[in-house]
Amino acid sequence: MLTRVNVCFSIYIVCKIFRKMTESLPSDPIGRRIICDGEYATVRYVGMVAPTPGIWLGVEWDNPLRGKHDGSHEGTRYFTCSHPTGGSFLRPKKADFGVNFLTALTKRYGPSNDWNEAMVIGKKTVELVGFESVQVEQSQLNTLFDISIHDCAVSDAGQKGEIQRSCPNISTLNLSKNLLSSWENVADIAFQLKKLKTIDLSENRFALPSNPSSLASSFGNLTILSLNRTGVTWNEVLHCAVMWPALEELHLASNNISDLERPRNCLQFLKLLDISNNHIIDGNELHAISDLPRLKHLIISNNRILSINFPVHHGCCTERFTSLNSLLIDGNNISQWSFINELNKLSNLQFLNCQNIPLMDSDKNPATIRQLVIAKIARLKILNRTEIIPQERKGAELDYRKMFGNDWLKAGGNQNSDLNNPSMEFLIEHPRYSELIEKYGAPDDAEIKQPQPFALKNQLLSLTILCPDEPDKKPIKKKLPDSMTVQKVKGLLYRLLKVPGSELKLSYESSKMEGKEIQLENDLKPLQFYSVENGDCVLVRW
Ligand SMILES: *[C@@H]1O[C@H](CO)[C@@H](O)[C@H](O)[C@H]1NC(C)=O
Ligand SMILES: *[C@@H]1O[C@H](CO)[C@@H](O)[C@H](O)[C@H]1NC(C)=O
Ligand SMILES: *[C@@H]1O[C@H](CO)[C@@H](O)[C@H](O)[C@H]1NC(C)=O
Ligand SMILES: *[C@@H]1O[C@H](CO)[C@@H](O)[C@H](O)[C@H]1NC(C)=O
Ligand SMILES: *[C@@H]1O[C@H](CO)[C@@H](O)[C@H](O)[C@H]1NC(C)=O
Ligand SMILES: *[C@@H]1O[C@H](CO)[C@@H](O)[C@H](O)[C@H]1NC(C)=O
Ligand SMILES: *[C@@H]1O[C@H](CO)[C@@H](O)[C@H](O)[C@H]1NC(C)=O
Repeated sequence: MLTRVNVCFSIYIVCKIFRKMTESLPSDPIGRRIICDGEYATVRYVGMVAPTPGIWLGVEWDNPLRGKHDGSHEGTRYFTCSHPTGGSFLRPKKADFGVNFLTALTKRYGPSNDWNEAMVIGKKTVELVGFESVQVEQSQLNTLFDISIHDCAVSDAGQKGEIQRSCPNISTLNLSKNLLSSWENVADIAFQLKKLKTIDLSENRFALPSNPSSLASSFGNLTILSLNRTGVTWNEVLHCAVMWPALEELHLASNNISDLERPRNCLQFLKLLDISNNHIIDGNELHAISDLPRLKHLIISNNRILSINFPVHHGCCTERFTSLNSLLIDGNNISQWSFINELNKLSNLQFLNCQNIPLMDSDKNPATIRQLVIAKIARLKILNRTEIIPQERKGAELDYRKMFGNDWLKAGGNQNSDLNNPSMEFLIEHPRYSELIEKYGAPDDAEIKQPQPFALKNQLLSLTILCPDEPDKKPIKKKLPDSMTVQKVKGLLYRLLKVPGSELKLSYESSKMEGKEIQLENDLKPLQFYSVENGDCVLVRW
């Protein structure tokens, strides 16, 4: 028992000593990050503030509503802030300048958290007194390779060489939300971790390094870097990028990126770039990164992108983004089908996420919109995380051909290929139409005249009603208007099957989408909302 108390006590002493050190002002306070009452800030000024005696810190809060002024006080400017109420003065003892890397690591992973375990090394219990306890922790730190010291007020590397002696096996390191303020400090940490591959530095705020190429030797094996919520701009990223010669994955979510520049002699190994939750409006900004030879995954969700254009020289594909395989564009301001048309020019695009865009809110129902996107992008394999099976693609392309058949005829299209000469305007709006005609033949008159499945109201649908879980019930044929709500259909089924509507679960299947069952889950929606068509099967379960 006594030894345990000693361990705790010695850790208490160590922590106390570090606390004491952080209470005195560091030698280079300007630009350092601090915490005060749980709020983060950057030190912008150190010195007197007349008429009061003593030293003050002038700080710029991350939360601009936390402060009182913009760095000016009673007519004197002490420092500048980007927000009019971003600044405050504090006494130095109120500011926590943080701890070094190993202090935070031992605090989180050392025996003070789980001292029963730490006391047992191998099979024998070790007796420890005083500072030996730190050594015990460190012999254990050796084995760690995936570390998170998120939100531990880490500000620097500490004594030279100590990290390498203590925990050289770290390859994945989460240092998000700490007090790191300079790349030089991060490089001092990384330099000692020769196996470092992944680092999360999100929610720190960095000053630009004056000589980034001199720090490159620290990040030689780094492949994954996260800088979410660090306030970086793209130009700052490019300035820093020479530091990361082997980088493959870069996360820059939730920053203030609005325009992009071409990366020159850097980022050439990048496979994944995440610039979601930024301020890009002009999709053509993306041309700047279109030459990255290995870029396979691009995440640009939640920007405000309106449109994009890919120049095409020969054939139908652009020579840009040649490796791009997956694109996430959810939550952008895309309201034109021309945007989706452009995506068909990406020669390798197979995976697309485009939820939550204004285009999807148009009056068409979601199933129709999915079909249109599938028909417009030839090589797509997965849309909205749902695989596109060959039957679904075929159904979508056949429908597309039919749906725009009339427009095609009006624009100069003709079933006789010698006379077929659709206008440029039509071809721009429907760039795959000619290809679909080559694939399936021109739509014949009957197909074109047939009422368009989604446009007409009050069409009567011949449906087969099946109860797949009730082998005794025979299929029922019914003609129902497509404007009938799911609720009304349930009312009808109640009379036919004597099962209360509230217990019924409806879905339907279409020969156009073999193997796919679509739920009719919203009672208030009409059948046409779910694209139920003539000849489809309604499945009823309870
Ligand atoms: C460090 O990792 C290597 C293998 O990755 C392992 O052989 C070695 O034992 C580890 N070092 C410690 C102290 O655990
Ligand atoms: C780092 O830790 C934070 C907090 O636990 C977590 O949200 C984040 O996803 C982690 N980063 C990585 C790359 O796992
Ligand atoms: C990269 O990793 C290898 C093997 O672990 C190591 O020898 C080399 O020093 C590391 N490079 C850097 C720059 O840390
Ligand atoms: C931030 O980066 C991580 C990877 O470290 C990623 O998984 C996460 O989704 C990113 N985005 C946001 C908005 O935090
Ligand atoms: C974001 O950048 C714009 C200029 O591109 C600037 O006006 C604005 O203040 C920045 N916002 C933040 C929070 O840094
Ligand atoms: C979206 O685009 C429309 C123009 O198409 C514009 O009027 C609107 O302000 C944009 N919305 C946002 C949030 O940028
Ligand atoms: C993707 O799914 C969402 C919701 O799941 C839907 O609103 C949207 O219309 C779908 N988009 C496409 C193109 O299918």
